Order: sequence, then C-alpha cells, then structure tokens
Amino acid sequence: MTIQNIGIIGVGTMGSGIAQVAAQSGYAVLLKDVSDDRAKKAVQKIEGNLSKLVEKQKIDQTVKDKTLQNIKVVSDLTSFKEGDLIIEAITENPQAKQELFRQLNEVVKPDALIATNTSSISITLLAAGVKNPGRFVGMHFFNPVPLMRLVEIIAGIQTTEETIKTATEVSEKLGKTPARIKDSAGFAVNRILIPMINEAAYALYEGVADAKTIDAVMQLGANHPMGPLALADFVGLDVLLAALEVMQHDLGGAKYQPCPLLRKMVEAGWLGRKTGRGFFDYRIS
Ligand SMILES: NC(=O)c1ccc[n+]([C@@H]2O[C@H](COP(=O)([O-])OP(=O)(O)OC[C@H]3O[C@@H](n4cnc5c(N)ncnc54)[C@H](O)[C@@H]3O)[C@@H](O)[C@H]2O)c1
Repeated sequence: MTIQNIGIIGVGTMGSGIAQVAAQSGYAVLLKDVSDDRAKKAVQKIEGNLSKLVEKQKIDQTVKDKTLQNIKVVSDLTSFKEGDLIIEAITENPQAKQELFRQLNEVVKPDALIATNTSSISITLLAAGVKNPGRFVGMHFFNPVPLMRLVEIIAGIQTTEETIKTATEVSEKLGKTPARIKDSAGFAVNRILIPMINEAAYALYEGVADAKTIDAVMQLGANHPMGPLALADFVGLDVLLAALEVMQHDLGGAKYQPCPLLRKMVEAGWLGRKTGRGFFDYRIS
C-alpha cells in the first residue's frame, strides 16, 4: 500500500517530532491534539526547529517552507477519513488510547494503517480494539525524534506481514532505521536500557558512589554519551517507574523491581528536568 498522507493524533513531545520528520520527508501531515491551540503550539515548535536548521545551514529556506506547507492542523477526527496512515502519540494511558481507537473506528477507511507510538502497552491489546486489527502496528520512535535514528516496529499477534512491510517502508522514508521487535513488555530498547538506569539508581541508593561519579564512570568507562542518572532525568522518573512496573508485571522476576529511591523521588515529585529536580538539580542552572 502506498502511503501519501499521515495523520498524527497527540502532538506533544513525540507527536510533534514525528510530524516534523514526516512533513520534511514530503508526506501531507494532519495534526490533531485535544485543542487547536495545543496543535498550533506544536507547529510553532516545529517552525522553531526548522529555523535552527536553516541557521546552521543544514536545510535551506525552501525546505523549511515546503515542510510547513505540508502540515495542517485539524480539529475534528472526521478529518482523518482519507488518512493512509494514522499515528497515535497521545498520553501513555491504555484506556485513553482504547477510547481514541473506538472513535477512530467510526471514521477511518477500511484499509487505513493505524500505528501507536506507545512505549509499554501491548500492541496485541490495543489492536483488539480497532476495526481492522491486521492493519494495526507499533511504530516506536525515540526522543528527540528528528535526531534519533531508530524506529522499533512491533507486530501484535493480529498484525499482517503487509502491515509490517508498509510500516518498515515508511520508517525508511522518514530517514530512520526500522528494527522488527516482538510484542513483549519494554520491546527491546527499553527492556535493556531501563533496568540499567534502575541499577544506577540502586548503586546511588546503596552508596556505591555519588550521582556525579556514577554518571562519570559510565561515560568514561563504558563510553556512554550521557550518564544513566542524567538520562533518567531527561526521560522523566515517573515514565521510568511506570515502564519498570509494566515490565515487572508482564515479565516477572526481581530484575525489574523498581529501586526504592526511584519510587520515593517520584512520590516527592522529583521527576527530573521537567520539574527542575531529579537525580540532579536543574533549578540553579
Ligand atoms: N517522551 C518520550 O521519551 C517517549 C518516547 C517514546 C515513546 N513515547 C510514547 O509516546 C506517547 C506520547 O508521549 P509524549 O512524551 O509525546 O507525551 P506528551 O504528554 O508530550 O504528549 C501527549 C499529547 O497528547 C495529547 N492528547 C492526550 N489525549 C489526547 C486525545 N484523546 N486526542 C488528541 N490528543 C490527545 C496531549 O494534549 C499532549 O499534547 C506515549 O505513548 C509515550 O509512551 C514517549
């Protein structure tokens, strides 16, 4: 199936990034959020990102203009009736996503492909709520989308090979490297990355070293571009805790047991950069 237009629902951190790369790759892109104001803010953010790319001479003004022309904000779900591919990137809440898919069932054409950017919810479970589960797939982008090269392509047990092929081709057209992953909690990247971050939190909790040292040794000794605790602050401690709980529930075993310090910090509202305090303090800088 040829994809010409892409609808994106939920244009926060991830949806706006996906919209930018899709529009830059020549797709006609429709954006919808809970309000037009939010969707327009996403367009402003994209415009700002593109202006920076023009300043750095990574793209020229024509590319910026064309990219913005490819983006349209819509208020109503019925605008997605012609959509070839609809990517859901709303809040990580299974009920909210299922409700959205129920509404989309009334609107989309039968052969439309529906993708979710969920980080942790079962693709099989979400597919069960759409009209054509064979045309449902996980397309897991990474933050920040314009910079991160990977898309995990996740098939539920209902997903057809043709759907996987189309999602793979679209990811490549977006300049990304797709990787096919089984529908299993945490998929691949988060299953490996999040327990490592959790272990770094345990090392801090048990006094192995202080936070700065833990990050420094992982940068110097393991060649990580960013320390695990700084990365935790970037992702959000609440997001990490929720993902660990999903992995612990679905996969079992002590290895996904969230560090008590992580849990306490979430209770305190120390969620990382977004609240000004996490493993590091961002309020003074
Ligand atoms: N943030 C990350 O690093 C990251 C990485 C990969 C995947 N994800 C996944 O991507 C999805 C979005 O995450 P995010 O970080 O962009 O969240 P976000 O909070 O930045 O954005 C979510 C957006 O969805 C909108 N929204 C909520 N309900 C809606 C509805 N019913 N209809 C339309 N819009 C609605 C919100 O107004 C908001 O603008 C989640 O499933 C998350 O797990 C996040």
